[in-house]
Amino acid sequence: MGLTKAQIAAIQNNWARISNNLQDFGDTLFMRYLTIYPGDLAFFPKFEHEGVGDHLRHNADFQAQTLVVCQFLSKVIASLSDMDAAKAMLQERVRTHAPRGIAMAQFERLLDLLPRLVQDASAASGPTADAWRVAVASLMPAMRQEFAKV
Ligand code: HEM
Repeated sequence: MGLTKAQIAAIQNNWARISNNLQDFGDTLFMRYLTIYPGDLAFFPKFEHEGVGDHLRHNADFQAQTLVVCQFLSKVIASLSDMDAAKAMLQERVRTHAPRGIAMAQFERLLDLLPRLVQDASAASGPTADAWRVAVASLMPAMRQEFAKV
């Protein structure tokens, strides 16, 4: 079962609030990700030398990276009422990321953090976090399918 119209609206309204400080949200997302999976820092040659720690959050290359990802997520979220378009956008990212050695596991690790983070960082309600869970669960199979092709 996919997202309802109400769930799409909940996610988009929540993201509009997050977008007031997208940089901060992106930094928090990646700090959480890299703290849990420090080995994945090796995928980022531009700031790998920093190591994982509070100082990483202040690195300009780290910040640029987290913003690029969140700005891209903005486009995906704006397209949620056209799931085929949203899936195609993420499949395109699969194609650009696979040659860097990034696998479905990395995308899953990151996307799995989102429903909880929106609650912690933007006080999203329980039903809004659930809508995020449905969105992530609806989008990931298309990414997995794409990884099977690359
Ligand atoms: C849904 C999750 C993600 C989105 C939307 C996303 C989005 C993007 C975008 C838009 C770019 C620039 C264009 C491109 O190369 O495709 C990029 C670059 C990159 N991404 Fe991702 N990404 C995601 C997850 C990840 C993960 C999980 C990793 C690694 C653990 C990763 C590592 C990289 C790297 C290494 C680059 C190149 C950075 C550079 O210019 O040096 N991304 N990403």
